[in-house]
Amino acid sequence: MTSDGAGTVDAVPEDAAFAREVPRGEPILQVRDLVKYFPLTQGIIIKKQVGAVKAVDGVSFDLMQGETLGIVGESGCGKSTLAKVLMNLEPATSGSVRFKGEEISHLKGTALKHVRRNIQMVFQDPYTSLNPRMTVGDIIGEPFEIHPEVAPKGDRRKAVQDLLDVVGLNPEYINRYPHQFSGGQRQRIGIARGLALKPEVIICDEPVSALDVSVQAQVINLLEKLQNEFSLSYMFIAHDLSIVRHISDRVGVMYLGRMVEIGSDEEIYEHAIHPYTQALLSAVPVPDPAAREERDRIVLTGDVPSPANPPSGCRFRTRCWKAQEKCAVEVPLLVVRPWLEGWAAHESACHFAAERDIEQSAAERGVEQSAAERGIERGAAEREFERGAAERDTGQGPTEPGTGTEGTGQGPTEPGTGTEGTGQRPTEPGTGTEGTGQGPTEPGTGTEGTGQNGPPPPA
Ligand SMILES: Nc1ncnc2c1ncn2[C@@H]1O[C@H](COP(=O)(O)OP(=O)(O)O)[C@@H](O)[C@H]1O
Ligand code: SF4
Ligand SMILES: [Mg+2]
Repeated sequence: MTSDGAGTVDAVPEDAAFAREVPRGEPILQVRDLVKYFPLTQGIIIKKQVGAVKAVDGVSFDLMQGETLGIVGESGCGKSTLAKVLMNLEPATSGSVRFKGEEISHLKGTALKHVRRNIQMVFQDPYTSLNPRMTVGDIIGEPFEIHPEVAPKGDRRKAVQDLLDVVGLNPEYINRYPHQFSGGQRQRIGIARGLALKPEVIICDEPVSALDVSVQAQVINLLEKLQNEFSLSYMFIAHDLSIVRHISDRVGVMYLGRMVEIGSDEEIYEHAIHPYTQALLSAVPVPDPAAREERDRIVLTGDVPSPANPPSGCRFRTRCWKAQEKCAVEVPLLVVRPWLEGWAAHESACHFAAERDIEQSAAERGVEQSAAERGIERGAAEREFERGAAERDTGQGPTEPGTGTEGTGQGPTEPGTGTEGTGQRPTEPGTGTEGTGQGPTEPGTGTEGTGQNGPPPPA
């Protein structure tokens, strides 16, 4: 969002000012270029590193005081790894994490202990994250062993009972064991433990994903109530976009270790500009059958590439219907594109970022054109395309080149090409290794939209 010396390349257009939500406070967490690679080794006695799983690869964002930042993305895109690195449960490979301005990513010993008090985590699975042999009182009071200053020994029972009360559980349950509680109640116990040290930030890693839908809302409501009561800042990780929307002030979308779009809930849900976000949103279940019929679902083809060997350039390009040559050679930075206005003027990592209704009509034009050329009606062309996509998913090639709607529309032209990244906030670690001619990891994914503008062949 900064402007560079050469002009106003990535400046937010003036009339877009209204689109930027006024942050609730100062940033409490500042994450810059965070990288976490897990080494891949070979050999039993002498271990040799043969590669790395790039679980988190250059992620930057701010968490503002008192806000809830939702993080969404498919399984395996690095959400939990990001959470663990922020918590210092896993050491970062590189990058910076600041808590209230203080660098915390390399802290150890007492300094780390002090920071940990302020950043707590609520885990996904309340069934496995609570020790079955400990009473609820011991589970919730365990953090006091490490931080006795928060609740001296004589006060602990009362402190735990207060916490049970705060999360809506009967304080008399203090001597019960986890198996005596339902899933929702167990997650309340997990939340009480997370609150014990009076943290300022809570990282919730899919806190309701393992719960029944009816219970999910109760836990979400509890989290919202606690946020107001204790001025908490949340990072809320989930793969369910509807839940994230309900609770979040802003939302970040991750794909294969990178943040691909970030903005207010209105910007993301109503004005998504990254193709991956648009595809995710198009797959959100719609309860109303009529609306379901009407919506235009984007069927993504191919699997997520391996994070050990991600595609060069844009990591989404092997599944993107808008991919062009530039996408294979140039990493798209997470910036505000200068041609976007209003709600669309928010950060995305796409060279051709645009709201979907623009490209949708382009895609539709592509369908109609292609159908007209081939003398078939539009519905049949779409069915044919979807059948082709299904076949590609099962490993068969497309039945008929040119039937896909993907890539047949011209991508939006890009003003300011070549000027991106000049002095932008997020620099991209690892870019030196990218664009070095790695092909897509998935055979066959390059066959999408076998019309002119499909993804380029591996360099
Ligand atoms: N300890 C680990 N060692 C090696 N690879 C890991 C480890 N933890 C996670 N990964 C890999 O990192 C990637 C991201 O995983 P994760 O952060 O759990 O994703 P998510 O939470 O989004 O599902 C996955 O490919 C996963 O297999
Ligand atoms: S258009 Fe290119 S840069 Fe944008 S998401 Fe698709 S492949 Fe990535
Ligand atoms: Mg996870």
